[in-house]
Amino acid sequence: MKFFIDTANLSEIQQAQDMGVLDGVTTNPSLMAKEGISGVEKIIAHYKAICSIVDGDVSAEVISTNYEGMISEGLELVKIDPKIVVKVPMIADGVKAIRYFTDNGIRTNCTLIFSSGQALIAAKAGATYVSPFIGRLDDISTNGMDLIESIRVIYDNYGYETEILAASVRHPMHIIQCAQLGADVMTGPLSAISALIKHPLTDIGLAKFLADHAKSNK
Ligand code: G3P
Repeated sequence: MKFFIDTANLSEIQQAQDMGVLDGVTTNPSLMAKEGISGVEKIIAHYKAICSIVDGDVSAEVISTNYEGMISEGLELVKIDPKIVVKVPMIADGVKAIRYFTDNGIRTNCTLIFSSGQALIAAKAGATYVSPFIGRLDDISTNGMDLIESIRVIYDNYGYETEILAASVRHPMHIIQCAQLGADVMTGPLSAISALIKHPLTDIGLAKFLADHAKSNK
């Protein structure tokens, strides 16, 4: 399972990279705004900075909502770095844009996926990744994991190569359940990734090992 970090914060990206488990980064317009990144030049410079930290894919989202706009933005984004994956929203023009990018060798991440039907059509258009938002489904009392499971079945039935990138991950149990269901990738905050490491019995056990070692080495 690939681990992506879902942030545009350079320090958090660096910390995840330094942990040695990072496979990529996802961003979105809200995450870029949260870091105070605005204006084309600053946005491009920020994507360059992210790409210089990580070894894997970096999703950069288009702002346009019409086909022509998405194509021209995507063509500019991929010039920034070969790691860039063009993130396109699941709307009719987005599907058409994904088909264009696929036919022209440009990798895509189809975002804002909330149903299996949306995931199916994104795969048919050739999306590299599809991003079901599990946390936001949980927020409206709908089990986000059911969506991951359903997409896994559909993609396996037909051998679609589109990778399931579980997004809107909020906590470590989301990551574990996604791994159990066979999501190819998860993207989440640093807090959820770091929380996988922690267990109180590990801390208690280590303290005891060190205390015993200290006693017998006086
Ligand atoms: O990857 C999508 C993600 O950024 C959305 O997460 O927590 O805003 O629902 P959240």
